[in-house]
Amino acid sequence: MRTPIIAGNWKMHKTVDEAICLTRELKEALKDIKDREIVICPPFVALHALKAELEGSNIKLGAQNCYFEDEGAYTGEVSPVMLKDLGVEYVIIGHSERRGYFNETDELVNKKAKALLKKGLKPIICVGESLEQREASETESVVKKQVFRDLDGIEPYRIKDIVIAYEPIWAIGTGKTATSEEANRVISIIRDTVKEMYSEKEASLIRIQYGGSVKANNAHEILTQSEIDGALVGGASLQTDSFTAIVKY
Ligand code: PGA
Repeated sequence: MRTPIIAGNWKMHKTVDEAICLTRELKEALKDIKDREIVICPPFVALHALKAELEGSNIKLGAQNCYFEDEGAYTGEVSPVMLKDLGVEYVIIGHSERRGYFNETDELVNKKAKALLKKGLKPIICVGESLEQREASETESVVKKQVFRDLDGIEPYRIKDIVIAYEPIWAIGTGKTATSEEANRVISIIRDTVKEMYSEKEASLIRIQYGGSVKANNAHEILTQSEIDGALVGGASLQTDSFTAIVKY
């Protein structure tokens, strides 16, 4: 069976001191959780401090982005090798904010996914449709195309180390969530797409999260759906109480 994975995407929030403070509280509040994976993804600048903070705890460290080269003249970028060195295990790639504000394409997401896997890091690949696309009944085709392109050329044995986060763009930071049935439906389409690309085996191994306004009061409803293997949480991951409640759904 797939282990649920709850990841907090802190986005561009928290100074290093604030990040340490929140992490200490989360460590204490979540110390007894054993049956699900917990990941926090702070800004790059807090990773070093949190590596030390999380030593020996059940919370794993994630990053919010990376570049696909190991090193070189790429001003402002951070490589998978550097993240690995900081104790990072998961890296969010292709978040809709990066696709939208920084023009990231599926081709780039695919390169990043391959670079991460090569270094033994696990990508959390975000996909999801805009409101316009949803209203034009394009949800299915948009999401399928993203999955095809983002996973293109990735070998079957790597699939178990990949997480896909289905995040409808219109649900991110808006307080609107897809209904749990609808999230489950799109996630099963994503799983079918993985089956089409690979086989039943890979489709049953890949973990697929839902993301977009997951809060303490809707986490149970969403996370108990049959196809949903966890959540990528933005706003509600910034406070101990709300993130703890979601993890314990
Ligand atoms: P949200 O963000 O929970 O604040 O909607 C989710 C995300 O962007 O990953």
